[in-house]
Amino acid sequence: MAQHYDEGMTLHRFIFETTQAHPDATGQFATLLQQVSLAGRMVSSRVNRAGLGGMLGGTGETNVQGEYVQKLDEYANSIFKNALEHPGVVALIASEEDEEPAYTPERFRSGRYVFCMDPLDGSSNIDVNASIGTIFAVYRRRTPEGSRAELADVLRPGSEIGAAGYIIYGSGTILVLSTGNGVHGFTLDPSVGEFFLSHPNIQLQDSAKTYSVNEGYAASWDPRLRAWVESRKEAGMGWSARYIGSLVADFHRNLLKGGVFLYPATDSSPKGKLRMLYEAFPLAYIVEQAGGMATDGKNRILDLCPTGLHDRTPLYIGNRAQVEEITALLSDR
Ligand code: AHG
Ligand code: MN
Ligand code: MN
Repeated sequence: MAQHYDEGMTLHRFIFETTQAHPDATGQFATLLQQVSLAGRMVSSRVNRAGLGGMLGGTGETNVQGEYVQKLDEYANSIFKNALEHPGVVALIASEEDEEPAYTPERFRSGRYVFCMDPLDGSSNIDVNASIGTIFAVYRRRTPEGSRAELADVLRPGSEIGAAGYIIYGSGTILVLSTGNGVHGFTLDPSVGEFFLSHPNIQLQDSAKTYSVNEGYAASWDPRLRAWVESRKEAGMGWSARYIGSLVADFHRNLLKGGVFLYPATDSSPKGKLRMLYEAFPLAYIVEQAGGMATDGKNRILDLCPTGLHDRTPLYIGNRAQVEEITALLSDR
C-alpha cells in the first residue's frame, strides 16, 4: 500500500526538532505537546469504540454554558487534564467543561504554560457518527514558574498565543498544529499508535467559493450579512454551501479545500455562540498561519482580549478575500 505520509517524520520527531531550535528550551513545551498527543490518541480510540462501549449519549447534566454534557465531553475533559496536570509543564488549564480554571495541584510542579481547550467540539454530532474534535491553545505564562498561576495568565489577547492546534476525530484522526512556523497536519496510524506528517505546510487556497454557516438562523442576522449570503446563490456565482455543525470539522474542511466559516451574532445572541479562548483564538491563530484571516465582523480575532474564561465572539474565518469582504460590509455604519 502506498504511504500517504512521511514515515520519517513522526509527530514526536517534529516536536523535538522544532523545540530544539529554541535556545532557551527546557523541554517543557515538547513534553506538553507529547502529552496532548497521548490524550488525543486515547480520546480517538474511545470515540471509535463509543457505540460499543456505552459512551454515546448524555450524562444528564448541563455545563456552565447551559449545554447538555455528553459522556464523551466529560471523558475527553478528564483525559486531557489528567495528561497535562502532572508533568510540571502546565500552570493552569481552562476548559469549556469547567466553570473555573484548573490550577496545577500543589503536589505537582506548576510549569511554564497555560493550556486552553475545548476537549470535545461538535459533541451534538457524537451520536450520529459525524466528525468531532479537540481544539487547544497554549500560552507562555506571565507569572513566574513554580508559583500558582493567576487569571491574568489566561485572560490576554489571542495575539500572545505561542502554539495552537486541533485533533479531528473523523474518518481518520488528524492532529493539526502550529507553533508559529506554518501549519502542519499529522495523521494517526492506529496500527502503531503514532501521528505521522501527512499535510506539511498547509496554505489556504485563495480561489475557493464555499461558505459554511447555519442558515437556519438567517432571519436574525444583520441584514447586510443576509444579503451577502443570498448573493452567493445567484446564477453564475459558482458558490457551494457546506455545514457539518462541528466547528472543528467545518474549519478543517475549509482549511484544506478553501472557504469561509461564519458564526454570526444574532438578535438574541449579540456575541454569537463560539467561545473566544478555546474555539475562536486557536483557529484564528492557525488560519493566519495558513495565510487566511479571522475577524468578529469588525476586529481581528487575535486582537480581542477576553474578560472571562467563557466569553463568546462572533466568528468569520477562512480565506482572506472573503473575510475581508464580510468585515468591510459589517464595519460599514
Ligand atoms: P461544542 O460541542 O463544543 O459545545 O461546540 C458546538 C459548536 C460548534 O462546534 C459548532 O460550530 C456550533 O456549535 C454549531 O452550532 P449550531 O448548531 O448553532 O449551528
Ligand atoms: Mn465547541
Ligand atoms: Mn465542546
